[in-house]
Amino acid sequence: GAPIEVDLSPIAEGQDIKVFWRGKPIYISHRTKKQIEEARAVNVASLPDPQSDEARVKSGHDQWLVVIGICTHLGCIPIAHEGNYDGFFCPCHGSQYDSSGRIRQGPAPANLAVPPYQFVSDTKIQIG
Ligand code: FES
Repeated sequence: GAPIEVDLSPIAEGQDIKVFWRGKPIYISHRTKKQIEEARAVNVASLPDPQSDEARVKSGHDQWLVVIGICTHLGCIPIAHEGNYDGFFCPCHGSQYDSSGRIRQGPAPANLAVPPYQFVSDTKIQIG
């Protein structure tokens, strides 16, 4: 599939949108300061799939989280802004992801994947 461009300017702080890339749902979250702070306050070594928040976002664009919205357990689509960690909740078997899309609780073995993307301007990304 071809890369897609997404304009981020309509996404208010604290909101998410879902777009499709290569038939996959992609969540783009405009994170609040609180969500970023929560994601960075975690002891990375204690996570089931240890990854720092900094490694999952683009430097200088830390408020934007871009993840593939497919649960790493059995492939359901998690719900944004649900669950115990201000992130994503998978209704199929209860996996809880945090505001960095990292698995925190439940049967999923891995973090939500980050698709290949880059910022083409301050308010626009290209996915793919
Ligand atoms: Fe998401 Fe099982 S598919 S918890």
